[in-house]
Amino acid sequence: MNSKRKKIIADFTQNPVTAQAYANIALIKYWGKRSVELNLPAVGSISLTLDALKTTTTLQFDESLESDTLHLDHRNVAGKPLERITQFLDTAVQTGDRPKAKIVSSNSFPTGAGLASSASGFAALAVAVNEAMNLHLTKEELSILARQGSGSAARSVYGGFAEMKCGTSIDDDQDDFAIQLEDESYWDLRLLIAVTSTDKKETGSTEGMVRTAKSSPFYTGWVESQQADLDEMRRAIKKKNFAKVGELTEHSCFKMHGLAMSGRPPLLYWNGATTEMIHTIWNLRTKGTAAYITMDAGPQVKVLCQPGNSELVKQAMLSVKGVKQIIEAKPGPGAAIVTDNQIKVKNS
Ligand code: DP6
Repeated sequence: MNSKRKKIIADFTQNPVTAQAYANIALIKYWGKRSVELNLPAVGSISLTLDALKTTTTLQFDESLESDTLHLDHRNVAGKPLERITQFLDTAVQTGDRPKAKIVSSNSFPTGAGLASSASGFAALAVAVNEAMNLHLTKEELSILARQGSGSAARSVYGGFAEMKCGTSIDDDQDDFAIQLEDESYWDLRLLIAVTSTDKKETGSTEGMVRTAKSSPFYTGWVESQQADLDEMRRAIKKKNFAKVGELTEHSCFKMHGLAMSGRPPLLYWNGATTEMIHTIWNLRTKGTAAYITMDAGPQVKVLCQPGNSELVKQAMLSVKGVKQIIEAKPGPGAAIVTDNQIKVKNS
């Protein structure tokens, strides 16, 4: 055992530690990895953290446990999701020779249906393990750690607008972390989420990305055109140019989904209600209401609008057959430890 490991293990607390993190919506999408093993993105991305999609995770290291346990949304979970968490904790602590952990986590939204539960989940777990093991990680190190669990989680470390930077090395991840562009109080926007299915997605993001990179003839174009989208989005956010942010958001979304559809076999994350919703929002826009669509690796539709239009947009979304629920979100805060009902922001 090296000296750092000794120190980490010596410093850990057996007390339960609770952290909260919020999912984020990618305005400029991440799709594709330059290393699957290290989970290094092939492209940068820009996101908005959302206050309505919250994960709360309690982590407790316990020397009497023989293996890690995961209780997610009131159910015991084993198999792949638990293995992913065990691997994440081993990476965080830098050894598998560590006290095992009991993890109890809950989401305020449907898990695994394209609502970015892995983003808020791994951001919350990164913050919790940092506290429990006294790792004293900086925000950037926390973001790197969260990214090792899930690429989009790197952005949920921050509130408001975040940009995930993409390095170039395939065996070093020190340049692959997110930074905050603007905090959650910068711009009052709304993101309306239409839940059109609560089923677990058939093809997860990781598998989808690998398939796309391997088989789509458009993949190189996707990677090469990303920087221009990122630069434009950064500028549009800086100027609070809503129409430009919206147009770029839709462009990145359809480019990503077009890319996924062009793989072999093709990947189509939408259902009938998703398609219907696209037309409904585009019709609304033709009539003068500024609202813009985005979708991720699932059939849910997310619509970006300004607060004054949110009621009108919500009513239009509710008129689409197959919509089960609308979740209304505002820009949300970064991942943080919860102490006695107070949130203590770490490492600011
Ligand atoms: C479509 O972050 O879930 O939501 O790194 O393999 O865990 P892994 O992928 P994940 O992918 C997110 C894909 C996306 C777009 C985005 O959030 O940028």
